[in-house]
Amino acid sequence: MSKYLVDDVRKVTTLRLKELKDQGKKIAMLTAYDYTMAKLVDEAGVDAILIGDSASNVIAGNSTTLPFTVEQMIYHAKAVTRATKRALVVCDMPFGSYQVNATEGATNAIRIMKETGCDCLKLEGGEEIIDTVKKILDVGIPIMGHLGLCPQSINKYGTFAVRSRDKEEADKLIRDAHLLEEAGCCAIVIEKVPAKLATQVASELSIPVIGIGAGHGVDGQVLVLQDMLGMDRGFSPKFLRRYADLSNIITSAVGQYVTDVKNVSFPNEQEEY
Ligand code: KIV
Repeated sequence: MSKYLVDDVRKVTTLRLKELKDQGKKIAMLTAYDYTMAKLVDEAGVDAILIGDSASNVIAGNSTTLPFTVEQMIYHAKAVTRATKRALVVCDMPFGSYQVNATEGATNAIRIMKETGCDCLKLEGGEEIIDTVKKILDVGIPIMGHLGLCPQSINKYGTFAVRSRDKEEADKLIRDAHLLEEAGCCAIVIEKVPAKLATQVASELSIPVIGIGAGHGVDGQVLVLQDMLGMDRGFSPKFLRRYADLSNIITSAVGQYVTDVKNVSFPNEQEEY
């Protein structure tokens, strides 16, 4: 188990997330999309692992999250749940799988839960999807909300810039956060909004607010794993802290391997049968 401030080795549940907030302890969440990485992330002590539909960008190389399907989310989520022992496993519902109506949303939600064994689902939006949120919660499936910059709506915004800078959008975000809490969501992710607004929402809600690009006044943080490991040289938004420089480590390791193969210095006698 991790040496990094993990004082409780029990499996993290949605209830435990709330306890962390109540105890004033911060929540550490990261994305993961495959078995190998999820195992390492879980062993390092994160409280929650998100199978984000950012897999569409990070794994599949799409420019948005929109093309990702329920089947693709299920494929990634199965790999992550197989690897995870302690962290709460949260799976994004992909674009188009819950926006049409509550029945279709609940049907897809049940399918994802049944086939993946994840613990919780994440949906983007507030008032617009509240009937679907309630229906899925009624079925007994925990939901994490997602407000602020909602990447599935990127074509509506036309920009990845910071959201809710104006009063109208900020007021809507506050209203939506309360609606999601009243409906019974277990937590809310708030993406790329002014820190002051996110702090206000976190202080008004009793459920945890987990930020990405939302400052330090919230109850926890989430980052995309490949971004915080420095695997994408071209992606460096202000909110991103890089904890490693894996692009250079990986390319230099692969470069060394290529050199060794060409020089016939790999494999050597100890490395053959
Ligand atoms: O899909 C994702 O990775 C996310 C995080 C950025 C919160 O929703």
